[in-house]
Amino acid sequence: MQSNAFRKVERDFSIKRQRAQSDARRFKNSVYEENPTLEKIENEINMISLKSAKDRIFSDNLSRRIEQEKLEVKLERLNRKYKEELQKIGLTKEDFEPKYECTKCNDTGFVENKMCSCFNQELINETFKQSNLSKIKEENFETFDYGYYSAINNKEKYGIEKSPLENIDGIKNLAYKFSHCLEDPTQKNLLFTGSTGLGKTFLANCIAAEAIKQGKSVIYQTAPILLDKMTDYKFKFNKTEEEREDYNKIFDVDLLIIDDLGTEAMNSAKFSELFNILNTRLLKNKKILISTNLSLQEIKNEYEERIFSRFVGDFIICRFVGEDIRILKKKIINR
Ligand SMILES: Nc1ncnc2c1ncn2[C@@H]1O[C@H](COP(=O)(O)OP(=O)(O)OP(=O)(O)O)[C@@H](O)[C@H]1O
Ligand SMILES: [Mg+2]
Ligand SMILES: [Zn+2]
Repeated sequence: MQSNAFRKVERDFSIKRQRAQSDARRFKNSVYEENPTLEKIENEINMISLKSAKDRIFSDNLSRRIEQEKLEVKLERLNRKYKEELQKIGLTKEDFEPKYECTKCNDTGFVENKMCSCFNQELINETFKQSNLSKIKEENFETFDYGYYSAINNKEKYGIEKSPLENIDGIKNLAYKFSHCLEDPTQKNLLFTGSTGLGKTFLANCIAAEAIKQGKSVIYQTAPILLDKMTDYKFKFNKTEEEREDYNKIFDVDLLIIDDLGTEAMNSAKFSELFNILNTRLLKNKKILISTNLSLQEIKNEYEERIFSRFVGDFIICRFVGEDIRILKKKIINR
């Protein structure tokens, strides 16, 4: 039995595919309208190809074979002509091909009967209602802007020897490497800490975008929603197969991003789920990225020792410093 999420994604893919195809058709038609010669040549090519194919089936005698060769020469000439006509208007045949989002599966969702990573990721997005991951089109390593980080050292203000710019550059490099080393057992996990508006979620999205680009699966979820979901599942009677599978994804995806840790109302069930996630994923060498406004000291005070000790042992702590970018942006707009 296929899940609702599966059917929904299948439908979306079919729409996406058809749209790419009809866009391509529409573009071709518009080019043909302005350049009728092209259409004429194409019609001729089609006619001759058809005739040549028919002849090949019945080609039993010599005269037919000569005829056939003549057709092929003609076809070659027409194809060349077609190409030249296209060149004149700065196009190639490829420009008439549908522009699929995924070049691995041409938006069919499957490659050689196996699910394509793009389909798998959409399935996860659907299951976990990952609206935030739609931001990765705008928030990725290509759009990362250093301009929001000051190049001036101010130890008194930021508490570190480096300038915010040097600091973020180091973190960004770490993040990029992390996104390419998800399977490397020597690569530690990442913990982003720092006050509000310093770009933690932005950089988490950069990592997600880079990982997805490489065909890795990513779950992004804020701590309150994730822990609510998990405890709901734990206390639920009669779990369906689908719910079980969804729950297991939290432990199995290549990268789990838990944003806004510390904003959830904790209780013992949630502590135990958080520990469960950390412990199970660490044992399986499945990477985790956590982002929080809490300092390490606050985590120590508010979370159990067994959780804190994992943060210290298995995570690289990345401390974000600088000015609140949300406020900087507003100032720029109001200027
Ligand atoms: N490097 C960057 N380049 C361009 N825009 C950025 C960058 N970093 C952050 N931003 C923008 O600044 C705003 C705040 O960033 P972000 O949401 O990542 O902060 P945060 O540290 O996660 O804050 P919070 O702790 O409140 O969740 C967002 O609008 C984001 O798009
Ligand atoms: Mg954030
Ligand atoms: Zn694909």
